Amino acid sequence: MCGIVGYLGPKNPKDVILTGLKSLEYRGYDSAGVSILHEGKFKRVRAEGKLGNLSAKLDGEAFSGHLGIGHTRWATHGKPSERNAHPHCVGGISLVHNGIIENYMELREELVRDGAVLESETDSELVAHLIEREVRAGGDRAAAGNGAAAGVSSALLAAVLRILPRLHGAYAILVVSEREPDTMVAFKNGPPLILGVGPDAMYVGSDVMALVPYTKKVVYLDDGEVVEVKGRSYRVLDHSGATIQKKLVEVNWTADVASKGGFPHFMVKEIFEQPRAVAQAIQPHVNLQKSSVELSGVGFDVDQVLAGIERVFIVACGSSYYTGLVGEYMIERLAKVPVECDIASEFRYRHPVLPKNSLFISISQSGETADTLAAVRMAKQAGAKILSICNVKNSSIDREADGHLYMNAGTEIGVASTKAFSATLALLNLLSLAVAKAKGVLSAEDEAKYVREVLAAPAQIETVLNLDKFFKQAADKLKSYKGFLYLGRGVHYPIAMEGALKLKELAYMHAEGYAAGEMKHGPLALIDDKMAVVTLVPHDDLYEKTLSNLEEAKARGGQIISIGTGESERLEKISQYYLALPEVGWFTLPLLEVVPVQLLAYHVACSLGHDVDQPRNLAKSVTVE
Ligand code: AGP
Repeated sequence: MCGIVGYLGPKNPKDVILTGLKSLEYRGYDSAGVSILHEGKFKRVRAEGKLGNLSAKLDGEAFSGHLGIGHTRWATHGKPSERNAHPHCVGGISLVHNGIIENYMELREELVRDGAVLESETDSELVAHLIEREVRAGGDRAAAGNGAAAGVSSALLAAVLRILPRLHGAYAILVVSEREPDTMVAFKNGPPLILGVGPDAMYVGSDVMALVPYTKKVVYLDDGEVVEVKGRSYRVLDHSGATIQKKLVEVNWTADVASKGGFPHFMVKEIFEQPRAVAQAIQPHVNLQKSSVELSGVGFDVDQVLAGIERVFIVACGSSYYTGLVGEYMIERLAKVPVECDIASEFRYRHPVLPKNSLFISISQSGETADTLAAVRMAKQAGAKILSICNVKNSSIDREADGHLYMNAGTEIGVASTKAFSATLALLNLLSLAVAKAKGVLSAEDEAKYVREVLAAPAQIETVLNLDKFFKQAADKLKSYKGFLYLGRGVHYPIAMEGALKLKELAYMHAEGYAAGEMKHGPLALIDDKMAVVTLVPHDDLYEKTLSNLEEAKARGGQIISIGTGESERLEKISQYYLALPEVGWFTLPLLEVVPVQLLAYHVACSLGHDVDQPRNLAKSVTVE
């Protein structure tokens, strides 16, 4: 995920910005850059690859100014390159962006028609052009006497307020102007953006990690808010230009908190690391220029093996098993290859039949789960090709396998799996495409469509993480229910089961994940006004069916918590809470849906005072049967 840093103060911006970008490296990136005022103009230095390449280019570079911005880029539109790296500079405007501008094609056509000369393939550059055009026109308007909205103090802010209605999508943007060297303007809708208020300087960052070396006094921007920094003062406004009162928060930053990246627990830190985890899981296996999937470093001839398989087995335990179920749905739907997904402790004792040309996929975060290891050895004995999806290289399971796909999620400390779960889902997205491609049943056009959906997922997950505040507030009410039923259909059914497992293992509350279509076959008897019914109900071809399941539960007093996509009056009407996720397709929606069910379990467990990183009776790796 992209990282943003901005600085306005008496020091040399270069060192502050580089230090800030370094603390954001964990977000995953493929290029970086800075734009710093020097003798009244922005001097921009960018480099592909890691920050070391940028630092090397900056050695010996002098900057006389006290205003600068910096960025680490995770490519979504346009391949990783210096040309596409941020900041983007247009006529004295310099801008950095994290997120996705969904209507970028429309904006691109308009700007090119308008004579704009685009130097990159990115959606971000278009925003810089829009703002520059407004600043330029604003100058003319001011000269003609009809300036910006009342109370707006900088031309840059006026320009931003004018272009905001044109932006659709998820964005966190920081923009500066040579014309106003004492001003920064930042605004967001989805990805995080924080203002740091120092004793003698002002900072902007994607998260507190970039700010705490300089100040612990921060203002967390919320969606739809704009902050204007002028000198040592700042103002937060809404899109109409009306001032909003915001709390100046003191960040609690002890060594223990620092080890958790500023979060109270490892689990919530890892929930928030999911955008980066997904980004780093997929990065080795996608060709950005072709929008194609190219599994790399697997360890066997992927095309040859996948083309020849006649049956797929996916075997795992716990949360990993639920990712496997999602994988089953995806591979069968896209590749038309039969898939059997099994719990390892069942698979190993049920005398399974593995036909020749079977691909056996093990999924294990730890790579040490005893039942999964045993199942792998059985499958190997039976002559199946073993593909391990794992987060720990050279773990026991990993060493047994013929091929490897790594979650690349980084160490997962919380016993309850979160970022490894999401990284696995993303790998299964790509694996299902690779199988379909090898089987010759996926067009290049569909492949590109699906790959672009996966590439967009990290920014969308970041937007969904904003639900953290909601669940923190709702936890006290949620913990009062006697039990939870989690419902879903299709690829959403395994996510319903994962949500139930999270609540069991963290809040020690009774919860069950069920196929929504099964309600009439028994679970409906459970429903009364003490029972919460959490339902994944996207606006897809099964929406009406799932909605009627919900209306049956509602009629019996069930307390409905529905998680859907986009607006829905009907869901609003029957739900205690209706949470609308971004309107993405079935293929990547599980990546977004798992976030609210993780946050629900986490905050209920916190409100119950449980040890969320080390829940009772559980271990991070179950190395015994
Ligand atoms: C998930 O939150 C649990 N920690 C547990 O179900 C876990 O997924 C299971 O034990 C499998 O672990 P593995 O992925 O390391 O094999």
